[in-house]
Amino acid sequence: MTPSVSENKMPVPCHIAIIMDGNGRWAKKRGLPRSAGHAAGAESFRKIANYCRTLGVKYLTVYAFSTENWKRSQEEIGGIMRLLGTYLNEAIRDMEKNRVRFRFFGDLTRLSPQLQKLCIEAQNRSKDYDVQVNFCLNYGGRDELVRAARGFAQDVKDGRYAPEDLTEDLLAGYLYSADVPDPELIIRPSGELRTSNFLLWQSAYSEYVFMDILWPDFGPEDLDRAIAEYHRRNRRFGGA
Ligand code: IPE
Ligand code: IPE
Ligand code: MG
Repeated sequence: MTPSVSENKMPVPCHIAIIMDGNGRWAKKRGLPRSAGHAAGAESFRKIANYCRTLGVKYLTVYAFSTENWKRSQEEIGGIMRLLGTYLNEAIRDMEKNRVRFRFFGDLTRLSPQLQKLCIEAQNRSKDYDVQVNFCLNYGGRDELVRAARGFAQDVKDGRYAPEDLTEDLLAGYLYSADVPDPELIIRPSGELRTSNFLLWQSAYSEYVFMDILWPDFGPEDLDRAIAEYHRRNRRFGGA
């Protein structure tokens, strides 16, 4: 058997991001409704978040719902939102035990007031913990950049900055990910080879690992494989 990353003592990336994709296809293959795929996907997330913690990954960013996912049926969206509510209630209940810090990337104002309240509670009550899960909810990379541009424009209007003050670092501070280092590794299961509007700014030098496995089937051994693949890459950052 191949030794796992933890047995190998291979250094783990500080920040791993995952596009949790393939729930619908997983359900279809089993003749189940799409909601069953999302429920199975939520289980995968629980397992992987725990595994990341045992590995010592400091930041885990997961794409849970995009700004484009509102195009889906009311029934599917309602099911996803209910699952999220259940998950957040549990996370808040088990907060002391898990000691995970929650942050949400995305425009939460489009979520139900109850769900917004849960997000804020999870975020506030976990703010002193170290290991951080960034939950991307109603998140879009382009939307994030538009908001950052608006934020800076407002600060110029208010006299805090001049246009020429804008630098890459300053702009990054207006993003949802302010203070979070860029992900070294971005994993997309499901076989699709695209970013689907995920972390457009932050992924400039991330290593992508695309995997032919559906998210509900994704387990710790698959994360090990992705990290092993990451270690085989030669990161040059534009150098020779
Ligand atoms: C990812 O799985 C979950 C969300 C986008 C909310 P999908 O629901 O996109 O699953 P596929 O891609 O249809 O298989
Ligand atoms: C990306 O998956 C969004 C999430 C996983 C939350 P999609 O299933 O929405 O992406 P496309 O439609 O295949 O590009
Ligand atoms: Mg999909």
